[in-house]
Amino acid sequence: METKLSRRDVLKAAGATGMILASGGAILSVTSAAASAQELKPIALKTPKGGNSFLQLLEKRSSSREYSSEPLPVDVLAGLLWAAFGINRPESGRRTAPSAVNRQEIDIYVAAANGLYLYDAKSSALKPILVDDIRALTGRQAYVKEAPIGIIFVSDYTKFEKGTEEDKLFYSAADTGFISQNVYLYCASEGLATVVHMVADKPALAKAMKLRPEQKIILAQSVGYPKKK
Ligand SMILES: Cc1cc2nc3c(=O)[nH]c(=O)nc-3n(C[C@H](O)[C@H](O)[C@H](O)COP(=O)(O)O)c2cc1C
Repeated sequence: METKLSRRDVLKAAGATGMILASGGAILSVTSAAASAQELKPIALKTPKGGNSFLQLLEKRSSSREYSSEPLPVDVLAGLLWAAFGINRPESGRRTAPSAVNRQEIDIYVAAANGLYLYDAKSSALKPILVDDIRALTGRQAYVKEAPIGIIFVSDYTKFEKGTEEDKLFYSAADTGFISQNVYLYCASEGLATVVHMVADKPALAKAMKLRPEQKIILAQSVGYPKKK
């Protein structure tokens, strides 16, 4: 997959957004709050390579609710999102997870300390949406605020030309499950902690995310490094 921006561009963009990146590309802190999402620059994401065998990953897959506050390096985030629902066949635009009738109706939003981003698989980038930290709204349990990343799976109902509300919810939930499992397996491969979870107050989260009425929140998933014992 084509990488649109060089590492220097990513670092420059991170500087412009007020993020400080360590030599490994980890987002360390937010130095200043941007006034609007327009001031944030898209973050380019590289396609990952290699990893453990499939059976080793299944041995390690588990839910974890104890997170370190250590941020995820940009390259790890890139791998996570590509594994989750990236384009693995560029000639057809098909993805790493199946979707009913190839509707690809699930959008992946990433809530972090410095704002909310939308994963754009086509351009391999995270597009800034908001400058607010909305992680606390992604679930009721304390860990949702502690994990550096809160993924929110949102179904775009405009991708369904027909079908009942029950059908739409069924396909959205099923398709989210495949993506969520990809996140679990990527986390197993990289020594990350994760747990998929319910969103307690969907209307409040949808409002904070400024979603359109036809965008439906399905589930959320926290990701981060495991808390050191
Ligand atoms: C659809 C779904 C919803 C879940 N909701 C929550 C949740 O709200 N909070 C939570 O801590 N875990 C949640 N979980 C994680 C499960 O509790 C977890 O998968 C289960 O305990 C089995 O543990 P394991 O994933 O380590 O095998 C959810 C899992 C699924 C599949």
